[in-house]
Amino acid sequence: MHLPDYKEARTRDKRDYHRFDFSLDEELKNKYQGMKYYIKTYGCQMNEHDSEVIEALLELLGFIKTDHYLESDLIILNTCSIRENAHNKAFGMLGRIKHLKQEKPDLIVGICGCMAQEASVVEAILRDYKFVNFVVGTHNLHELPKVLDHSIQNETQEIEVYSREGDLIEEVPVVRANSYKAYVNIIYGCDKFCTYCIVPYTRGRERSRKKEDILKEVDQLIADGYQEITLLGQNVNAYGKDLYHDYNLGDLLEEIAFKNIPRIRFMTSHPWDFTDKMIEVIGKYPNIMPSIHLPVQSGSNRILKLMGRRYTRESYLELFHKIKKQIPRVSVSTDIIVGFPQEEEEDFLDTLRLVEECRYDNAFTFIFSQREGTPACRLEDNTTLEEKEERLQRLNTLVNTIFLENNQKLVGTSLEVMVEGISDKKTMYYGYSDTNKLINFSCDKELKPGDLVSVEITDAKTWSLDGRSI
Ligand code: 5AD
Ligand code: SF4
Repeated sequence: MHLPDYKEARTRDKRDYHRFDFSLDEELKNKYQGMKYYIKTYGCQMNEHDSEVIEALLELLGFIKTDHYLESDLIILNTCSIRENAHNKAFGMLGRIKHLKQEKPDLIVGICGCMAQEASVVEAILRDYKFVNFVVGTHNLHELPKVLDHSIQNETQEIEVYSREGDLIEEVPVVRANSYKAYVNIIYGCDKFCTYCIVPYTRGRERSRKKEDILKEVDQLIADGYQEITLLGQNVNAYGKDLYHDYNLGDLLEEIAFKNIPRIRFMTSHPWDFTDKMIEVIGKYPNIMPSIHLPVQSGSNRILKLMGRRYTRESYLELFHKIKKQIPRVSVSTDIIVGFPQEEEEDFLDTLRLVEECRYDNAFTFIFSQREGTPACRLEDNTTLEEKEERLQRLNTLVNTIFLENNQKLVGTSLEVMVEGISDKKTMYYGYSDTNKLINFSCDKELKPGDLVSVEITDAKTWSLDGRSI
């Protein structure tokens, strides 16, 4: 049994880590043939991609996927700890599973993801959720087959969570959710330690994958006919810093742009690590999508400092305007937290003013959520929840007005859209533009996911555009 510990998770030193290829014990292959698994995924794209790996690991063991948890033999919750509501959702699901397990005592239940890295969650599982068969942390996901098998064979509760990242495992199998767009991890972890954020504790230190491993994965995706790849990391802009002297995200993007792949995306970018070279490369290659997620979090210097964001309102705006100027047609989206401890009305107004200046194309807005063990948790907070909710409401009203105004300017223009699917009533296709706008459109021809079509925009809504293919 290995239990997580935040103190250990915090440490950052110059430990070397090694790269190993994944392998599975022969005796585990197909050992659970025919049993059904169900995965519930919470949180970000990183977790979605981890679930693709979990699926592949389970299928190597012989499990078959089901979309109905009531008919499964194994339920995996791939959890998220970024805010309290993600936490509550997973615990709510565990409550339902507890009842189910009374009817189906042989049901196997496993917890993976960020919540597995939290000591308080693991303590609660040991104390109150004894029916959970196993917990596997984010750093040793590749060990899931072994841990699951051990738990089933010995009828024990297995908790295998390492506080610190271990080696980098390559050649991990993956069952991709789509056949036309794919996620590719380029860097794991985060070293930024924004004071509100739990990610550096749950995902560990920044570790870049070797460029050769990334390029090999990209080449395979291209050979398999993928049209779009999204390079993933908590902070992709830090790519390469831990591995190379002179190779960063700009170089990686450029190398991939030379390949025969129509669409390259990347996320998330921390403003701190955004170099001129990256901006230049993104602007230069038509297959690097002009769409950047650039979280600002707050428009107030006082709050940015308390958040430990390492930039000021002024330096963020300078970067923002440079990006807008140098990357043609670029769309920028952001994340904003309201109600951070000690945020006054004047700080909040600074955020509104910044939003008015940046006129984002999309924004994910949150009320500050206390995460146990993070520095912001210890800050005095005298704003009521009602005030915070009211600020969120005002912010949402503003961003929504701006989204609609931005979209209205696109009516009459044409955009290239990658088809994702067809609506329930089979009347309209939908997909995303290069600038990451959701577009619903009509087309006389039959289209399939991954097709690229030119669409004339006929109508604008707050979160989407309507059009017809031309
Ligand atoms: N409370 C509220 N929002 C948070 N985020 C991260 N941690 C917290 C927290 N404790 C938001 C940030 C980040 C996004 C992924 O989630 O805006 O960019
Ligand atoms: Fe969290 Fe900040 Fe790292 Fe983003 S950059 S994952 S907000 S610590």
